[in-house]
Order: sequence, then C-alpha cells, then structure tokens
Amino acid sequence: MARYKVWIDCDPGVDDAAALMLAAKMPEIEVVGISATAGNVELKYTYRNARNLAAYVGLDVPVYKGANAPLIRKPVYAKEVHGKTGLGGEALPMSAAPDMTKPAWDALYEAAVKSQGEIVLIFIGPLTNLALALRKYPDLPQYVSRLILMGGSSSFGNTTSAAEFNIVFDPEAAAVVFESDLTISMLGLDVTMQASLKQDDLEMLARIGGETGRFLKDSLQVSLNWLKTLGLDAVAMHDPCTLLYLVYPAMFKSEMAGVKVETRGELTYGKTVTDLYSDTRFPVQNVDVVLEIDHAEFMKVFAEILGKYKESSHGA
Ligand code: RIB
Ligand code: CA
Repeated sequence: MARYKVWIDCDPGVDDAAALMLAAKMPEIEVVGISATAGNVELKYTYRNARNLAAYVGLDVPVYKGANAPLIRKPVYAKEVHGKTGLGGEALPMSAAPDMTKPAWDALYEAAVKSQGEIVLIFIGPLTNLALALRKYPDLPQYVSRLILMGGSSSFGNTTSAAEFNIVFDPEAAAVVFESDLTISMLGLDVTMQASLKQDDLEMLARIGGETGRFLKDSLQVSLNWLKTLGLDAVAMHDPCTLLYLVYPAMFKSEMAGVKVETRGELTYGKTVTDLYSDTRFPVQNVDVVLEIDHAEFMKVFAEILGKYKESSHGA
C-alpha cells in the first residue's frame, strides 16, 4: 500500500522525464494524476510528452492539459536546455490513452477533495495551474496535505541572475501560491544544483536502466552538451529532487523561512526573496526551504530506482 497519494504537475522537460521515471518505480508513491503546463516548451509538447512518458514508464493515470501561457507575462521557453519539443529531440511511442477534456485545475481540485486532505502536490514546472486552481477553488488548501515544488532559490538564478526558471516563467502565479495557506516545501536551485549528473553518470544510466535508461541518457545528453558550452560539466536533476524529498527526507537539509515572490522588480522579477540570511525577517517563516542534499546518497538512490527498469521492459 503506497504511503503517499501524489499529483504531479510538470512541463516535460528532460528532468521532468527523470522525475516521472522515478515516480513509476517508487512503491511509496501512488500517482493519482498528472497535469502538464507550458514551461520548458509549449503546452502542445509538454502535454504530449507527459502523456507519452506516463505510458512509457507504466503510469496508468490520467494526464490533464493545463495552462498554455503564464497568467500575465509572455511565455519564454527553455528550448536550448530541453530541445525544440522538450525531450532533447528524443521521440517516444505515442500514448493510446484517451485525451482528458477536463482542465488540469479542475481535475487537481477534484482529486484533492477525493483524497480527503491526503494528496501531496508535486509541482515541477511553472505554477500557473496551481494558481488557477487556488483562484477558482479558494478552499483547495484544506484538501491538500502538502505542496513540494521545484522552483526558486534563496540565492542565485538560472534564467536571470536573480530568478529560477519555474518561478520567472510565471511570477504572478508563484506569488499566488506562496501567499496561499498551502504547506510548502521549496526545492530551489540551492539544493537541486547539488543533485547533478556528469558525463560518466549519464553513461552509467545507459548501462543500468535498460532501454529506459538509454532514453533518459540520450535526452539528458542534449542538456549537458548545451551546459558544456557554458563551461559547466554536469546536468542538474532538479525535478527528481521533489520526489526524493518526499520519500527520503533524511537525505536533505532544510530551514523554515519566509518567502515572497518579486513581481515588480526590473532586475529581480521572478526572484523568490527569502529571509534566510537577513536579520529583518518576514512576519512568518512558513516555508520549508530545502538547501542541501547528500550527493553520494542521491546518486545511490537515483541509480537504485532507475536500475529497476533494467529488470523489466521499459516501464512495465
Ligand atoms: O530551473 C529548473 C526547472 O526549470 C526544472 O523544473 C526544469 O524542468 C525547468 O522546468
Ligand atoms: Ca520541470
């Protein structure tokens, strides 16, 4: 019996793909729904990728289409990192699952109510769908156990010098989420950049993960090749950190802090401003800001879970 009922909202995205691969092989997790949002690439690709990935890894759950644009600003995609269609140019078999017509924010709310407050929301892309759900259903937080999101940073950015991609793609949506009554764990760049894979690690994935491992390696290779042009030698497993934090919290270190999202600044637009390093604190420190991961432990668990694909044909 899985310990956690989980809803995953994503923008696949090569590291989103890795997260879904983990979710499908973690017995502690029961994925009750998946939703896609515009983010790394357009919604038409993230939705297709989410459907095809779910089928590919054997997640027999409905996949819902969410927002195709941020609440206010224009979308700015990350094709240089994830490739034109989001999976590093790798193609998957097309899912035969029926298209879900219900919008993601309605489906997410219904799943939360049905879970009677047990559901864990895992958000690994921009927060537009969650902001839309909170606006339409103000009582959503009472049906949610907790939100674990990949996004933000207590220090540096990756999309601007101040802001991280998932937040700055839709800062207004992020502000709605951080101002809500949800119990939030924020896994920002502070911790996710520590969960990184070098070239040798990618080769290891291809060796241990069967056809699925080879697919992931090939998808991540496109990201790593681009990062190498920036002088970097590793690709961060941003999104998988959220699921690992849920199931293996001892692998991480975190601190409670106040977090607000900048929605007016010119240089700081989309920055998650925390009061972690300030003697002037916000009124409440209600966000669990995750700051460190044990890299050796991360590599061990990451490889262990993905190694399960070796034993089975991909996904099943
Ligand atoms: O900044 C990293 C985040 O942005 C990850 O979720 C990645 O998939 C992109 O969405
Ligand atoms: Ca993502």
